[in-house]
Amino acid sequence: MTDTLVYNADVVSPDGVRRGYVAVDADGFISRVAAGDPEPQLIASARCAVDAGGALLMPGAIDCHVHFREPGLTRKATIASESRAAVAGGVTSFIDMPNTVPQTVSRAAVEDKMNIARAGSVANYAFFIGATNDNFNELMSADYSRVAGIKLFMGSSTGNMLVDSSSALERLFEAAPAIISVHAEDEATIRAARAEIEAEYGQDAPVALHTRLRPAEACYRASKRAVELARRYGTRLHIAHLTTAMELDLLDRDCQLEDKLITSEVSPHHLLWTADDYGRLGARIKMNPSVKSAADREALRRAVADGLVDLVATDHAPHLLSEKQGTLFNAVSGAPMVQFSLPTMLELFAPDRVAAVMADNPARLFRIDRRGRLAPGYYADMVLVDRVADGYTVSDSDVLSLCGWTPIDGMTLHHRVRSVWVNGKLACAEGVILNEQRGMPLAFANKK
Ligand code: DOR
Ligand code: ZN
Repeated sequence: MTDTLVYNADVVSPDGVRRGYVAVDADGFISRVAAGDPEPQLIASARCAVDAGGALLMPGAIDCHVHFREPGLTRKATIASESRAAVAGGVTSFIDMPNTVPQTVSRAAVEDKMNIARAGSVANYAFFIGATNDNFNELMSADYSRVAGIKLFMGSSTGNMLVDSSSALERLFEAAPAIISVHAEDEATIRAARAEIEAEYGQDAPVALHTRLRPAEACYRASKRAVELARRYGTRLHIAHLTTAMELDLLDRDCQLEDKLITSEVSPHHLLWTADDYGRLGARIKMNPSVKSAADREALRRAVADGLVDLVATDHAPHLLSEKQGTLFNAVSGAPMVQFSLPTMLELFAPDRVAAVMADNPARLFRIDRRGRLAPGYYADMVLVDRVADGYTVSDSDVLSLCGWTPIDGMTLHHRVRSVWVNGKLACAEGVILNEQRGMPLAFANKK
């Protein structure tokens, strides 16, 4: 029995775009995907038949890198608020980072977050457990059929989770029971840059020096060290928010995602902006790692287009605008992006590429059960996206995130999310969230 039928759609898969239809059963799974028009009786018998009018029907995006701030930082964001922003933007599943308060560095802290999400998330959800210098036993005993992996900060960032003991690092890479996602920025390089900047400017250094404070070399050094450790111990390593052309040389090439030991993601910020944009956008684009040069941005775009980089993930990091004021040393780092990542990436890449890096590859990389593509037997996480020939301009007032601003304020986009289904249920229509639905926990296949 067909529950929902979306027809006359440009159905997007990583292999291309075909005019056709997708049928969803009453349990929320995709029952049929086919080219062309459905038989009239299929349209007549579906509980809900949607004529897409030629719009793009994409798999819901899976954002493997968000900071939804709960528990502890709920003045900035909550899992309820940010999951709504996510769904409004076509992100139907998210994996949240551990730099909350308290930090998610124990099994009990993961359980707390799972409970918060079960109660309030309209998107599907999962969490990383964070590594510290001394939580080895918690990392070893976490349940990686429910926990996405281990987040490791090699380089301090917002939330103070630096792992700087080399024995803790060695031990972690040697024994890791799941994929390690690393924030790679070398502390010593950043400290040296900071000393130079302070000598020149004192405490009044401007935000525009953020790339000098956190330069390309800092990323390269830390990524190189992480890759060396991963290769030495045969540990799966995922480099989060990669920002430099240099780091691309560290990646596995010319092999299937499933065969890679080293995988990577790029965030929209680093595909959109460079250090030349601080003058215009200031602390709105201050994030760690920093935006880099135009040559780096170009290399990253190429790497996403040709498949060298595996994922686009937002690093959605909401802060209040009041916290983004002031100098280099006191404006906080991080920016929200989850609500606009899908349409923004459709500005840069073909729809099939976007489906690969934002849905299919995240599911394959993290071995997420039955998500990430429009195929029979998969959960019906789906997004209908209209092409808007004349474009529309995004503004802070469109933002559903609690922080109420976006770095793409003023940008013109040419794709707009019309409808979103999560687990086969309509979750958002024309930007309006249907609040009563709840997402499901993501399930992971064994990692090692
Ligand atoms: O800019 C950043 N903000 N980078 C991070 O690594 C953390 C994030 C945050 O949580 O605000
Ligand atoms: Zn992050």
